Amino acid sequence: MKGIVLAGGTGTRLHPATLSINKQLLPVYDKPMIYYPVSVLMLAGIREILIISSPEHLDNYKRLFGTGEQFGLSFSYAVQPRPEGLAQAFIIGRDFVGTDDVALVLGDNLFFGNGMSELLRRARTRTEGATVFAYHVENPSAYGVVTLDRDGRPLRLVEKPPEPESPWAVTGLYFYDNQVLDIAAAVTPSARGELEITSVNEAYLARGQLHVERMSRGYAWLDTGTHDSLLEASEFVRTLQHRQGLHVACLEEIAYLQGFIGKEQLIARGNLFAKTAYGKNLLKLAKDDEHHPEFLK
Ligand code: TTP
Repeated sequence: MKGIVLAGGTGTRLHPATLSINKQLLPVYDKPMIYYPVSVLMLAGIREILIISSPEHLDNYKRLFGTGEQFGLSFSYAVQPRPEGLAQAFIIGRDFVGTDDVALVLGDNLFFGNGMSELLRRARTRTEGATVFAYHVENPSAYGVVTLDRDGRPLRLVEKPPEPESPWAVTGLYFYDNQVLDIAAAVTPSARGELEITSVNEAYLARGQLHVERMSRGYAWLDTGTHDSLLEASEFVRTLQHRQGLHVACLEEIAYLQGFIGKEQLIARGNLFAKTAYGKNLLKLAKDDEHHPEFLK
């Protein structure tokens, strides 16, 4: 399975902070925002990742991640000339995806929760159709909303409904089989001029192939699109990391625990960031990995 991170957009709700920098490069506490969605793909076991961003910002991502070998990954890069909708990711990424299945994650979505890896693995191993994740929110009108029947099966999808009939928002993480390439290619722009991901999901729903996994109350799905939500996300990560002494979205740590990199690479990266808690965490893991919670299970 391939992975795509869509990290373009205009970030108008974060102006003037995003006048000269792409939103997904802004820090959420101690690391660039894009680390969080990349960590989700890694936890799903995905190692080939395409980063899509706007023409003026793509080079910054190349500088940040390079080939991805430091995480045992392979990164590719592509430009989205204008932010014309999430479904465009599959038009831009068509050759990259080839004949494989693909997961799409939005560059500004932050997920955290116990059992995340298991949830992701379930979505990944499903061989047919699409899997999306529904999250109970206070303000569904800001999102694509899914109505579920008693058994949790999807009945309807509506993009940003003024009067939502359900509290379940569709999050910015989607798993698709290869049909998505042709489905996305056939989507026509919505009234707001975008190729909507909701249209793609509706096509799967019409085929009876849309699976919805509910993320229970034990999960955090944070939005980082406004000044307040960005600061709240930073505070959330800081609180967890300080309290637990465990790091969220520390990519080298995940790579090591997943077996994508070895101990030497882990130490080399730790030394590179030795002045920070991020680097110290890597060095501690290298020294003491039998005490790491992942090894204690
Ligand atoms: P949005 O939050 O809808 O848009 P934005 O990031 O441009 O911000 P604002 O509303 O403040 O102007 O985008 C959600 C995510 O998807 C975000 O990570 C940017 C990304 N995106 C693209 O990369 N390309 C697109 O065409 C769209 C619509 C979004």
